[in-house]
Amino acid sequence: MLNKDFLTMQQLTQKELFDLLDLAAKLKDERKRGIAHPILAGKTLGMIFQKSSTRTRVSFETGIYQLGGQGLFLSANDLQIGRGEPIEDTARVLSRYLDGIMIRTYSHESVEKLAEYASIPVINGLTDYAHPCQVLADLQTIREYKGGFDGMKFCFIGDGNNMANSLAVGCLLAGMSFSIACPKKYAPDAKVLEFAKAYGDKFTVTESIEEAAKDADVLYTDVWASMGMEEEAAQRHRDFAGYQINADLMKLAHKDAIVQHCLPAHRGEEITADVLEAHAKEIFDEAENRLHAQKAVMATLMNR
Ligand code: CP
Ligand code: NVA
Repeated sequence: MLNKDFLTMQQLTQKELFDLLDLAAKLKDERKRGIAHPILAGKTLGMIFQKSSTRTRVSFETGIYQLGGQGLFLSANDLQIGRGEPIEDTARVLSRYLDGIMIRTYSHESVEKLAEYASIPVINGLTDYAHPCQVLADLQTIREYKGGFDGMKFCFIGDGNNMANSLAVGCLLAGMSFSIACPKKYAPDAKVLEFAKAYGDKFTVTESIEEAAKDADVLYTDVWASMGMEEEAAQRHRDFAGYQINADLMKLAHKDAIVQHCLPAHRGEEITADVLEAHAKEIFDEAENRLHAQKAVMATLMNR
C-alpha cells in the first residue's frame, strides 16, 4: 500500500499504480497548457544524494517547485551522515524541518531505516535494489505510446539490477508480461523472483536475448555496471558481451516496438547508437516523464 512512503513497486496495488499514472498524466497536461497547480505551496522536499544524478535531481527539484514548494539539495558527503551520524537521528531531525525526503543511496535497508524513523514521507530516488520512480515514468511513457498494458510483452536485456527489479514488478502489476535476458549469475533479486511467481509464465528469465526480444512491444536496457560497481566493470563487460539492443535484435520484436532506457546510456555496450537515435523520441519522452510521475508521487504523499 502507498501509505507514508514510496520505496518499492511491490508496495503498490494495481489501483494505486494506475491512480499515480492518471495523476501524472493530468499534471503533465496541465503543465503543457500553462495551468499552475501549487498543491504543495509552502512545503519543502529534502533531497539526499549519495550517488551522482542528472534526471532525478533536476526533475525532483523542478517538480517540487512547480507544485509550489521548494527542494533542498543535500549531498550526503556534506551532511553529518557522511561523518557517521546515524540514519535514525538524521531521520528524526529532518522530520522537524521538512515535509518530505527523497534519497538516492546504495543500501536499500538504510532507506527503509530512514523511512521507519522519519515521520514524513520518504521517496526512494534509487538504491542498489530498486528505482521505482523511474518505473512510474517508464509506465507512463508506455501508456502514452501504446494506449495501455494488457497483452503486451516487455523485454529487458541485461543486468538484473535495480532497474530490472523494479521494472519486473511494475510491468507485471500493470498487466504486461515481462521477459529478461541476462547471464545466469545476474538474475533479478530473489524477492522479485518470489513476487513474480504469482504471475506464472507471464514472467520469464532466460540467457537468450532472442527469446526475450521475440514479439516484444517494449525493449528496455540499462548499463552493464551500475553506480557503485566500478570495480567489477571489466568483469561485467566480459560477462555482458552480446547483451545488447541493436538493429538485428529489433527485427525480432514487433514492428512498432518502442525502446526505453533509463539513461545514462553507454552507446556500443548495452545499446547501439543507431537504435538509441532511432528511438530518441520515446527515450527522451521517458526522461521527461520523470518530472510528471514524481510530481504525482509528491502530490499524493506530501499533501496528506
Ligand atoms: N535515470 C536516472 O535516474 O538518471 P539519473 O542518474 O541522472 O538521476
Ligand atoms: N542501474 C543504474 C541506473 C541509473 C539510473 C545505476 O544504478 O547506476
